[in-house]
Amino acid sequence: MLEQYGVIPVVTFRREEDALPMLGALCAGGLPVAEICFRTDCAKECIEAGRKAFPDMCIGAGTVLSGAQCADALAAGAQFIVSPGYSEEVALLCEERKVFYLPGCATPTEIMRALAAGLTTLKFFPANVYGGLSAIRALAAAFPQMRFVPTGGVSEETLAQYLAFDKIAAVGGSWLVKGTPADAEEAARRAVRIVHEVRG
Ligand code: 3PG
Repeated sequence: MLEQYGVIPVVTFRREEDALPMLGALCAGGLPVAEICFRTDCAKECIEAGRKAFPDMCIGAGTVLSGAQCADALAAGAQFIVSPGYSEEVALLCEERKVFYLPGCATPTEIMRALAAGLTTLKFFPANVYGGLSAIRALAAAFPQMRFVPTGGVSEETLAQYLAFDKIAAVGGSWLVKGTPADAEEAARRAVRIVHEVRG
């Protein structure tokens, strides 16, 4: 479900009132998708507000570490769930609720566990620390059925090289939302241009 965007902005809101301007800016920049991290207390409210204000946007929850957090995220309207690692209870809940789950897997053993659960798209995190594109190429050779979403340390400068590899479903990152909403709109526009250039 994330392939169609190519890039997933990963955003942690410190205040609920920051959510709508930033999400609106991403939409205006042509990137109507965001992963809102459950790293702050207002994450749930931000997802709820975003879903209501931008019904055509695809809004997911990130840094979901437990089944309880996953249930909270789904209650808020999260359309996909991301974890930094693989969580059995989150996987089960997502399967039950028919929601796309993107767990972080960085080793062959973790990938095999996710595969056994029927998952074929995985977050590769933190991508820059675990070997970047060359690690993904090596893993993809062993797991041809898998597609990866590298996240962590990816930037506008490295986006194209990741997207050029056909085993990359999409790329995630917070670089898009580092500045003001106006900055994010421009960053989104540039990222969308790169996606089109690389994928045609
Ligand atoms: C995540 O949890 O996906 C990361 O915080 C995003 O990584 P980045 O900030 O290095 O882009």
